[in-house]
Parts: sequence; C-alpha cells; structure tokens
Amino acid sequence: MPVNKGDHKVEQYIISGGSPLVGEVEICGAKNAALGILAASLMTDEPVIIENLPDVSDTNVLLQAMESIGVVVDRLSRHTVKISAGAVNSLIVESAYIKKIRASYYILGALLGKYRKASVALPGGCNIGSRPIDQHMKGFKALGASVRISHGLISTEADRLVGSHIYLDVVTVGATINIMLAASLAEGKTIIENAAKEPHVVDVANFLNSMGASIKGAGTDIIRIKGVEKLHGTTYSIIPDQIEAGTFMFAAAITRGDIMIKNVIPKHLESISAKLIEMGCEIEEFDDQLRIVAAKRLMKTHVKTLPYPGFPTDMQPQIVAALATSEGTSVVTESIFENRFRYVDELIKMGALIKVEGNSAIIEGVNRLTGALIQAPDLRAGAALVLAALAAEGESVVDDIIYIERGYEDFHIKLRSLGACIEKTDSNKDARRAVFKVS
Ligand code: UD1
Repeated sequence: MPVNKGDHKVEQYIISGGSPLVGEVEICGAKNAALGILAASLMTDEPVIIENLPDVSDTNVLLQAMESIGVVVDRLSRHTVKISAGAVNSLIVESAYIKKIRASYYILGALLGKYRKASVALPGGCNIGSRPIDQHMKGFKALGASVRISHGLISTEADRLVGSHIYLDVVTVGATINIMLAASLAEGKTIIENAAKEPHVVDVANFLNSMGASIKGAGTDIIRIKGVEKLHGTTYSIIPDQIEAGTFMFAAAITRGDIMIKNVIPKHLESISAKLIEMGCEIEEFDDQLRIVAAKRLMKTHVKTLPYPGFPTDMQPQIVAALATSEGTSVVTESIFENRFRYVDELIKMGALIKVEGNSAIIEGVNRLTGALIQAPDLRAGAALVLAALAAEGESVVDDIIYIERGYEDFHIKLRSLGACIEKTDSNKDARRAVFKVS
C-alpha cells in the first residue's frame, strides 16, 4: 500500500547516477495543449476523438472532472479518447481533484461559451509563485459576462456573449486560450491583442477550427476570432510535448549522453537547442526527430525565461541543474513566475554552488554533484532534480514524485530504457526516508 502523506501517497525514485544516457526516446503529446483541447471538446454535443493524448495525472484529473458533470469519456486506447458532451447535466465543477490542477479554468471558458454559465473550483497547480487570473476575468467581462469569486468557486454568467477587443496586460497562455474558447461561440468578432504565441495556443486554436470555429492569427500576438453558432465533432491529434522533449535533451546534456528524441517538432525546440549548442552540445535535426550528443563537459551560459519563442520558464529548473555541473559561472533569470527557484536548496544538498538573488540564480559550476535525499517541490523542478541525480556520483532518493507524474508519462521507464539506473518505490516498506548510501 502506498504511504499516505497528508492527502497524497509517498512515492520515490531511487537513482544511481553517473551513467551517460544513450538511445532513443519517444515523446508524448503535449500536456498543456491536451488540457485546453480536452476542455474545448466539451463545446460540441457531437463525439470528438482526441489522439496522442498523454497519460499523465493532470489530463486524467481533468477527464474525471469532465465526467463529474455528465461528459462521457471512452478510452479507445492508452493515448486515444472519445469525448461525448451531449448530456452535460451540471455547470458546476467542484470535484475534489479539480482544485489541484491549473487548467480547471479552461472548463470555465468552454462552458461559458457553450452554455453561457459556469462555476469551477478555483485553480490550483504548481506552487511557483502567485498565479492571478485577472486577465481571464477581464476577457470574460469584455465578452459581456459577469464574473464572481465566492466560497472558493469562480462563477461566470452571460445573457449574451458578444465579441470584443481585448488587450492583455501580460502575455498569458491561460487567458489567451480561455478567451479563445469562450469567444469561439460568442456573437461577432473578438480580437485578442498581446496574445501568447506558445505552440499549445496554436494547437488549441487548430483543434477549435477543426470543430468549425473561425480563429485566425494564433501563433502571432494578435488573434482574431469570428464567433460561430455551433461547433461539431472532429478527430484530432495533439502536438508533441515541447517540455518533455526539452527535458530529455537536458538529460542527454547533463549525463554527457547521446539521445535520439523522436516524435518532436524541432521548430518548437529552437530556443532550447540554441542554449544547448552554446553549452557545447551537438544537435542534429530531422523532420520529426532530433539527436543530441554531449561529448564533453558543459560550458556556462546566461539565459532569461521569456514567453515563446523565448526560452520557456518550464525549462528553467532543467537548465539550472545542467549548468550546476558546467565549467564557469552562469546566470539564469526567471521573468515569468516569481517563486520558481524553490528547488535550488535541493541542488545545494547535492553539492551545487548556487546563489539566488531576486529573480536570478548565479550558478558556479562544480565538477560533479553527489547523491542526496531530495524532494520534488513541483513538476518541472522535480524533473530537473531527477536529471541532477542521474548525473550525480552515488545514490539519490527523490521524494514526492507525485508532482513529476502530473506531466511526465512513464518518466522512469523512459529513462531506464536509455540506460539510467532508476527505480520507483511505492510502498512504505521500500520508502527510503534518510538512509541512502554514496558509493
Ligand atoms: C501555463 C502553463 C505553465 C507554464 C506557463 C508559462 C498550463 C496548464 N500551464 O501556465 O506550464 O509555465 O503557461 O508558459 O498550460 N498572469 C497574470 N494574470 C492572469 C494570468 C497570468 O498576471 O490572469 C501572469 C502570471 O502570473 C505569469 C504570467 O502571466 O507571471 C504567465 O502566466 P500564464 O502564461 O497564464 O501561465 P499559466 O497559463 O498559468
């Protein structure tokens, strides 16, 4: 039986570091695109088939929440679902799980568009700083809806939803997608200015268009939406996950490995590839795969996270982990979220020399990290700590891997297929609290 720690079970990875990762790995569909697409699939009464869906806890929680309001979800295979939302019986989504994921707010935009009314438990997600939703609310209000927060629920309602001109004050993926959802079924035209340009924004727009929506300009900072009366069923395959691919690229870099990363769109990985090349890696791009070879010790670099096409904030912990073992001093600046360096203390336990000053981490590369008992504080930082452990000398125990499983399918199995020495423990008996050896 898994150990209960508060409201979640304790599961760990036990990792013996030091071997280069070599081989091939297949990347899943993009989690963050999937969350928007699953919510959008509610917006038609006709069946929708979604392919290349990652089997991770965030998408599974969203599917459970959708089932709790009467949506029928048929798993046709591990990565394909059929969604039928013709019999939605409640516009209030309050299931216990939904509070844990960020993307619960997409159900709000989807239900508002289709039924002009919705209430959803306030979004949770990773603790990486304050995560306001004022821009989502501003967008819904501009479309003519009222928005109210009370008793932990965010509720929105409109007699008529009418297209509008919305200028976002910050570049936000969540608000851009949410406004696109609601505006697709509004009357008339909506223009979103200063829109987010991430690949998953484009994927959600393409999905909505395949259901009969009229969205133009996704992928630029001005998106134009002509509201339609109804959306119809479709079959759609989700794009590959940019962040999962980037994480495996850094796994090759930090272990001085050689990995062929399959099922990717190399264009989406350009900012990541550019940094890895500066750090001394070799990258060879093919149509839908990419090979990364790290033959020598990594070199220092400086980087600032930025909205797409800049370096993604979701890759910030992974690059810091890699730079912790590079030659020289690097500076990594986080410009999207204010509290995204909480994992640095864990890297310090492994011998990293990192100082956080304001929103920058100053990293003095060391020759080698050493294994330690470390804790995943959130999804991407958890993955970065696993990478550090794979490169470290000796054994590490990574605690709280439940966060990692929110967004990485079969993470340890994929790493093991590349030669990593990694085990997952899920029992009280196996759980290693403080006893670990350094060989
Ligand atoms: C999404 C991703 C997350 C990624 C982030 C940035 C999902 C489920 N999550 O999160 O993995 O790290 O994009 O690429 O897709 N902001 C506001 N007001 C708002 C909304 C956002 O001020 O109403 C601010 C945020 O505090 C942050 C910035 O805008 O500083 C970007 O946030 P946003 O792009 O919305 O992130 P999420 O959609 O939450």
